[in-house]
Amino acid sequence: SILRDNEEGSESDIGEKNNQPDINWEELGFSLIPTDYMYAMKCAKGEKFSQGTLMPYGNIELSPSAGILNYGQGIFEGLKAYRTEHGRILLFRPEENALRMKIGADRLCMPSPSVEQFVDAVKQTVIANKRWVPPPGKGTLYLRPLLMGTGAALGVAPSPEYTFLIYCSPVGNYHKGGPLNLKVEDKFYRSISGSGGTGGIKSVTNYAPVYTSTTEAKANGFSDVLFLDSATGKNIEEATACNIFVVKENAIFTPAIDGAILPGITRKTIIDIAIDLGYKVMERSISVEEMMNADEVFCTGTAVVVTSVASVTYKETRAEYKTGPEMLSEKLRGILVGIQTGCLEDKK
Ligand code: COI
Repeated sequence: SILRDNEEGSESDIGEKNNQPDINWEELGFSLIPTDYMYAMKCAKGEKFSQGTLMPYGNIELSPSAGILNYGQGIFEGLKAYRTEHGRILLFRPEENALRMKIGADRLCMPSPSVEQFVDAVKQTVIANKRWVPPPGKGTLYLRPLLMGTGAALGVAPSPEYTFLIYCSPVGNYHKGGPLNLKVEDKFYRSISGSGGTGGIKSVTNYAPVYTSTTEAKANGFSDVLFLDSATGKNIEEATACNIFVVKENAIFTPAIDGAILPGITRKTIIDIAIDLGYKVMERSISVEEMMNADEVFCTGTAVVVTSVASVTYKETRAEYKTGPEMLSEKLRGILVGIQTGCLEDKK
């Protein structure tokens, strides 16, 4: 999705700032750099979102008994704005994020913005913060749409009021330090297996429960944690914040979307690109053992893009994989980034 010239250049009535922010684009990581504006839109339970507004970025006021604070009634999205070599700003398939947010909202009994409202709000947020979109090749502007129950209620029941909010931050690489060394978690699970849980939506409650695992793994020198299915404890599901792929003899495998796996937009795009290149892609259960015997392993996600995996450790066993510019994951990453930054045509 291209921000049209007139949108990009428009003088907004909230007072667009044009001077360059005082940050070193070379040192961007994945941590919050507050920008100028955020977007917010509220609606009451049982009603539809109608009118949102941009406002200066800052803290929000919440009732202590807000649904999000007490019972975790909230979901989020993640997408990026890319500055092209020619100075345009592009979004990558924001409608997909809007649709995924709607599915999550239905699951958690929340109203959701329409696809048009979502995409329009994202565009307004990017335009208002356009001076924070990093130069090409230096990073992207990461947008974080949130949908949450903000009305006050004591009982366990859907919140009486909802807020859709978007804030953003310029970001660089999610993982510092090259290919990942993953630890397979064998005690805790990210979500319950199958379609009855919430693993397949971006519920805020899916994320904090991984902290015990990631904190311990990082203290032991690992980059991230890979979670197994809770039904059998044998099959790989996904890492903390990304989907996983394994490559064996020119075939590509990734866990099927079964309700527990997040339907990643990058995941889907990589599958499409690989099929387009003539690879066989299979979405099915993958045992840890199968992964340990793979030729190549990589992760995909909006934040991580495509990141190769150098090793996986399961209990006492460590498998190592080839990495480097000649690997399939690098080829796929190059095509994906080419599309996202407008160098290659998006065939979708
Ligand atoms: C994203 O890739 O946008 C994610 O949602 C990962 C995030 C938890 C950092």
